[in-house]
Amino acid sequence: MEYGLIIITGASSGLGAAYAAALAGRTGQMVLVARRAQRLEELAADLKAKHPGLQVACCPCDLADPTARRELIGRLESISPGRTLLVNDAGLGDYGEFATAEEEKVRRLLEVNIVALAELTRAVVARMVADGGDIINVASLAADVFLPDFALYAASKSFVTSFSEALRLEMREYGVRVLAVCPGPVHTEFGQVAQRRGYDRGDAPLKRWFYTPVETVVQGSLRALATGKARFYPSFKVYAIGCLLRALPLWALRGILGLRPRRVHVDGRKEGNP
Ligand SMILES: NC(=O)c1ccc[n+]([C@@H]2O[C@H](COP(=O)([O-])OP(=O)(O)OC[C@H]3O[C@@H](n4cnc5c(N)ncnc54)[C@H](OP(=O)(O)O)[C@@H]3O)[C@@H](O)[C@H]2O)c1
Repeated sequence: MEYGLIIITGASSGLGAAYAAALAGRTGQMVLVARRAQRLEELAADLKAKHPGLQVACCPCDLADPTARRELIGRLESISPGRTLLVNDAGLGDYGEFATAEEEKVRRLLEVNIVALAELTRAVVARMVADGGDIINVASLAADVFLPDFALYAASKSFVTSFSEALRLEMREYGVRVLAVCPGPVHTEFGQVAQRRGYDRGDAPLKRWFYTPVETVVQGSLRALATGKARFYPSFKVYAIGCLLRALPLWALRGILGLRPRRVHVDGRKEGNP
């Protein structure tokens, strides 16, 4: 087996569930983390049926709750893992102007996208120095740019890529690989969760052109991890946009993003609509 233990956060849906299915044959022990326990149990049953001998621990946990995180970390520390893969996938977005963001959603976004990712990484990384391991942090194409109407999310994912790049260099001498995954849009529950009540954001035609299948993100990122890449963009289109965003001078980017084509007004009206 390639790993003694694989830990996946956000395993109850979307990319996280797909990582669990893709990785189940590479370990004897898997820990699945998310809030929806029923979903985790169903996934675990499915994985065990397909991979006899695989042990799956479902850990229902609200990663936005510091006490629940401490309990989870305590549980992880009690497992003797050997070589470990940590997939920090759990995350959420919030579409709309920051001025109208719900206080609770702001807190949850910061706790899950940033604090939980850093704390879970901290909990396993020291053991990886001794026993080996790898880390996949799911960031976003949004990490490459500041995004009005998606400001906090894009900033939180900039944290993820910056942190991952630096950690990768620190861990290189211990043979621990760290990969930041930077998808553009993917069909999962992400859009529904990011949507605010009463706001119909729709899908811009350009955005539709950028969707990548879940499997392409997961399989491609596992290949990128195996070859020691620092970042993974799941298609040429997404990669090209990332390159363009990073290459544009700030004044040009400010000009383009200042047009805010995806703006939603405080009362829910889209720009240009009555
Ligand atoms: N889909 C996209 O377009 C897209 C694009 C770029 C990057 N991403 C990133 O990809 C990652 C996975 O998202 P996805 O697209 O697969 O969306 P998703 O289907 O909504 O999955 C999000 C996962 O995160 C978990 N999660 C959210 N809040 C949590 C909390 N408080 N505690 C524990 N778990 C929590 C959810 O589980 P529970 O609800 O059961 O807790 C779920 O399993 C995220 O980091 C997202 O930012 C997505």
